[in-house]
Amino acid sequence: MKIAILGHGVVGSGVVEVLTTNRSGIEKKAGCPVEIKYILDRKDFPDLPYSHLFVKDFEVIAADPEVDVVVEVMGGVEPAFTFVSRSLSAGKNVVTSNKELVAAKGAELLALAARHNVNFLFEASVGGGIPIIKPLHLCLGANEITAIAGILNGTTNFILTKMIRGKMAFEEALALAQQLGYAERDPSADVEGHDACRKICILASLAFGSHIYPQWVHTEGITAITPDDVACAAAWGGAIKLIGQARLLEDDKLAILVSPALVSRDSQLSTVDDVYNGILVRGNATGDVMFYGKGAGKLPTASAVVSDIIDAIRAEGTIHTLQWKDGDGSRLEPFEECPVSALVRLESSNQATAKFHVLFGEAVSVTAPKGQVAFITPRTTEGELARKLDALRENDVKVLGMVRVLEE
Ligand code: HSE
Repeated sequence: MKIAILGHGVVGSGVVEVLTTNRSGIEKKAGCPVEIKYILDRKDFPDLPYSHLFVKDFEVIAADPEVDVVVEVMGGVEPAFTFVSRSLSAGKNVVTSNKELVAAKGAELLALAARHNVNFLFEASVGGGIPIIKPLHLCLGANEITAIAGILNGTTNFILTKMIRGKMAFEEALALAQQLGYAERDPSADVEGHDACRKICILASLAFGSHIYPQWVHTEGITAITPDDVACAAAWGGAIKLIGQARLLEDDKLAILVSPALVSRDSQLSTVDDVYNGILVRGNATGDVMFYGKGAGKLPTASAVVSDIIDAIRAEGTIHTLQWKDGDGSRLEPFEECPVSALVRLESSNQATAKFHVLFGEAVSVTAPKGQVAFITPRTTEGELARKLDALRENDVKVLGMVRVLEE
């Protein structure tokens, strides 16, 4: 079997390393020799022992009938989408780690792969080295999935951990993440929640059977989280985590959201720290299943890519269980209707507590930093919560922070 790797960045070089280091075990599992025939990259790598494999023109790969598996690890939607579509149409299996591509084009590429009786596999697109795509469509296949809640972004989890344990401010923790190479120079996709959004969209599309596009999902990042929010969360009995969640509601609608959330210390998700990811999947037969591990990085991500290469080689034709239809969004609960309760932090004044109770009724009080009061609101809807917070502001109450509580 001959493969071509599109991209020789962190993940691409990791794929070469894993294929080389673990060659004999991989070939046993694949049932045949696995040879890298091409690596596509704009740059030259003259000092590498495999420098002769590099090509700059995708057409060389597209035109070579010997290439059975194309491994796309370039990132971004274009030109990845064009290269992946052309590979599938040419009857080649495709393995990718590209969450942006799968979240934007998954339904279309899965359908294209099925038409050509080849596989489009993307285990590495969510949770890096954590097996989650295959467990969700195979091992948990007997269940109706009722909820998924995940810490899906390692960079923001590292930043939040430093804010919680190291008492750092957001900017200081971000600078440290950049210094250690965890955060990109432009960290917006991570800290604004877009990366986590793409990943929960992929998981929800797979779990619920129709494509969920990122632009439909309300997404908030962690840039507004302050040390005072972190202190309140600790006083309440938990930690703030960036959570991507998808919940099946009673009326069969789906509530999907990415936002910082208060996670109780009783939840295993509260102990997922640093750059690790954790994903809780609730099935109606199995109950809660927790996935934990390295959600990013060269070798963990390459591990998932190479396992997909083995699967692609072993599968005879399309893996039919890994499919979802295109979606029109009709199954999504409108954001304003989604259920929520939240920690609300106010500047303390004679009026603040009274006005809060008039609007929200009974609410649990949480110890807040000096000069502040904080409450957990009763369960309401997102629309109502926003309206009541606006009403507080209009009544001269200073709202200092709002963090949703992750529902059990
Ligand atoms: N930037 C991503 C993260 C990389 O921090 O989780 C892995 O998808």
